[in-house]
Amino acid sequence: MDLIGLYLFQLAILGVSRLVSGGRWDCLTAGDSCSSDEACSPRLRTLRQCVAGGGSVKLGPGARNHCENAVTALLSSPLHRCQCKRGMKREKNCLSIYWSLKQSVLHGLSLVENYPYEPVERGFDYVRLASIAAESEVGMTTVNRCLDAAKACNVDETCQKLRTEYVSACIAPSARAGPCNRARCSKALRKFFDRVPPDYTHELLFCPCSDTACAERRRQTIVPACSYEEREKPNCLAQLRVCEADYVCKSRWAQFQHDCQPSELTASGCQQENYGACLVAYTGLIGGIITPNYLDNSTSSVGPWCSCVASGNFRDQCNHFLGHFHDNNCLKNAILAFGNDTDLKSATNQALGSNTKQISVTSSETTTTTIGSGMETEQNILRPQIPTQMNERDRLWGDSTPPSPDPYDASPGAAHLTMVMWLLPFLLLALQL
Ligand SMILES: *[C@@H]1O[C@H](CO)[C@@H](O)[C@H](O)[C@H]1NC(C)=O
Ligand SMILES: *[C@@H]1O[C@H](CO)[C@@H](O)[C@H](O)[C@H]1NC(C)=O
Repeated sequence: MDLIGLYLFQLAILGVSRLVSGGRWDCLTAGDSCSSDEACSPRLRTLRQCVAGGGSVKLGPGARNHCENAVTALLSSPLHRCQCKRGMKREKNCLSIYWSLKQSVLHGLSLVENYPYEPVERGFDYVRLASIAAESEVGMTTVNRCLDAAKACNVDETCQKLRTEYVSACIAPSARAGPCNRARCSKALRKFFDRVPPDYTHELLFCPCSDTACAERRRQTIVPACSYEEREKPNCLAQLRVCEADYVCKSRWAQFQHDCQPSELTASGCQQENYGACLVAYTGLIGGIITPNYLDNSTSSVGPWCSCVASGNFRDQCNHFLGHFHDNNCLKNAILAFGNDTDLKSATNQALGSNTKQISVTSSETTTTTIGSGMETEQNILRPQIPTQMNERDRLWGDSTPPSPDPYDASPGAAHLTMVMWLLPFLLLALQL
């Protein structure tokens, strides 16, 4: 497409954008709204062109100027400060709109948020599920928060359905892909963590453990044999590069860095002082290329499945990356404080240290029974689930049912007609990035 033609077209358009808005739009809606506005849409097209060309650096001074003008104008449109929702339909399209504006202002004013998702509210309620679980525990002596979490999940329709879905996807052997289909497993995990309320997912993943059986169960939550472990440990920086080339992974990683950013100046250990937000950001990584999980069954240490061994000159950079998980007091404290049923308010009163702290449950002071009876109860829970898994697998693998639409496989064909008419050439260019 001819840049000069575009600019002539742009220059022919006079008047101020009508889309000034104080509120927050979702980037898809903002993009649609912009492309149906005669002042905004040419600017959006110019921006697409600028970004598609590998950024304004490659362009001549005149073109760069045009790009900057377009960006400046778009910053007063709903595209500025627009957001996306994790797991939303066409999430990738939404994120691509967000990042195209973000990328082009990187070297200028950084007026765009640090990550595309709506921020997590403070004072996130962790106590609700504990009380649900406590009710089901009346008269029983066993207290295993991880087990309670599984029970509570089975009672909730969405949680039960999506958990069954990912478990069956992650344990189903695949003719082509070996013991399991990792891509399918990861997709189901993302769906689970994006759609099920954190009350349930966090309780399953961050339940406190004081013995290895419990911690092993917790480690198994994401079916690591399929979703996490590989024969070889790839280099962490290679993983990070793959992640940053994908809009979804890149956005999750940005959210994690922002919301789990450690700080020595705050009592919580978190720059944002919001444990709930950090845990939400952590779960957002699961099912992506840098999926984190518990490293063993005796601590609460977490990290991705990768190594810095063969990093050569990039060893420091690689260790810095791993430090986001291994030496991150914000993340550590968030996980521990969750287990302790505390939130930021009480967590600020104490310093958190040990990973292997004995943790009591506020709803009940009884201690755990032997491992044996714990396992038994666990099997009782899992057993009724097996027929469902088989049905689910039949449904998932059968030919009769078309696969459910994937919010991550955003295709240009799904875009609104107006969007396609206006943006198709530019979308195609952008997709080649
Ligand atoms: C804990 O992990 C170790 C080492 O991976 C393993 O040998 C052991 O069986 C695990 N414990 C439980 C209770 O699964
Ligand atoms: C857990 O809570 C208890 C009492 O509420 C407190 O004394 C303890 O320090 C807390 N531990 C952590 C790790 O937050």
